[in-house]
Amino acid sequence: MIRVRNLTKKFNKFCAVDKLSFDVDSSEIFGFIGPNGAGKTTTIRMLVTLLEPDEGTAWIDGFCVRRYPEKVRHVIGYMPDYYGVYDGVTVQEYLDFFARSYRIYQRRQRRTIIEDCMALTDLGKIRNKLVSTLSKGMKQRLCLAKTLLHDPKVLVLDEPAAGLDPRARVEFRSLLKELRDMGKTIFISSHILTELSDIVTSLVIVEKGKGVVNGKLDDISQALSKNVNLNIKLELHTPERVAESIHLLEGQDNVHSVKGDGKLIDIEYGGEQGEIYKLMKPLLEVDVPIVELSSSTHNLEEIFMQLTQGEVS
Ligand SMILES: Nc1ncnc2c1ncn2[C@@H]1O[C@H](COP(=O)(O)OP(=O)(O)OP(=O)(O)O)[C@@H](O)[C@H]1O
Ligand SMILES: [Mg+2]
Repeated sequence: MIRVRNLTKKFNKFCAVDKLSFDVDSSEIFGFIGPNGAGKTTTIRMLVTLLEPDEGTAWIDGFCVRRYPEKVRHVIGYMPDYYGVYDGVTVQEYLDFFARSYRIYQRRQRRTIIEDCMALTDLGKIRNKLVSTLSKGMKQRLCLAKTLLHDPKVLVLDEPAAGLDPRARVEFRSLLKELRDMGKTIFISSHILTELSDIVTSLVIVEKGKGVVNGKLDDISQALSKNVNLNIKLELHTPERVAESIHLLEGQDNVHSVKGDGKLIDIEYGGEQGEIYKLMKPLLEVDVPIVELSSSTHNLEEIFMQLTQGEVS
């Protein structure tokens, strides 16, 4: 549904987006993840035809953003990372204004569409409230309702969950799932991977304008969480015995690092879980008493930190 190839944008000599390529299938919730300044908003502005790429291009539902920007605008609903302020306009009037600007001129049709969008985003009860008096969470829902008016196939949302409280985030996530179930493709940016990890199906992680990782979430986390952190507690009384144990562990297959701290030893292990017992064999052969053995896999946030250097460009 979205196809991005070699997308590049420079501001003077600074390359904000650098030959970015990825694909988004239809009916996916696709995460566009990266730290501040990674080039997310710049990429999104090119996808929604607000910014001309310097090189490369993207196709949305088969339409090239450079050749057919008008067509692309019909297919996408874009929710920017900031919204303007509208004084003296109620929720319903705001939606009515945008429905007209989307050329939904028939009054009855417009009313039905607005009612549907308000019902979906739970805005019915506050339809007569002034937009300028809404809380952040309500504004977020209103902005989403606005992007749904012309029934776009693709939703492009730039950090929609920023600034929402935990309950609003949960509600927002379930709303996105509902929209996905309605057949919409959702492209959503965030700088926090774990915030999206329970809803996204695929993702690309960007840093300094470059794609660092791209693929299905399951494949990525499986490949990366293969590294297990093992902690063993030994009942040893001399530093020599500890050093000997570390030495015995270091020489083994799939052991990436061994760190000892007194009786506790940490091992970074990249092999099969079922083979962990084999690591212990040499220790048992020289009568090292193992008191405890535990393992933990890296969580998504750690994976993200591993992948990105955390440098803000
Ligand atoms: N109009 C512009 N002129 C010059 N530099 C720009 C312009 N727009 C963006 N940049 C630069 O491009 C880089 C990427 O910015 P962008 O807003 O795309 O990042 P982002 O990933 O959306 O960050 P954030 O998470 O903070 O929203 C930044 O270094 C920014 O300063
Ligand atoms: Mg941004």
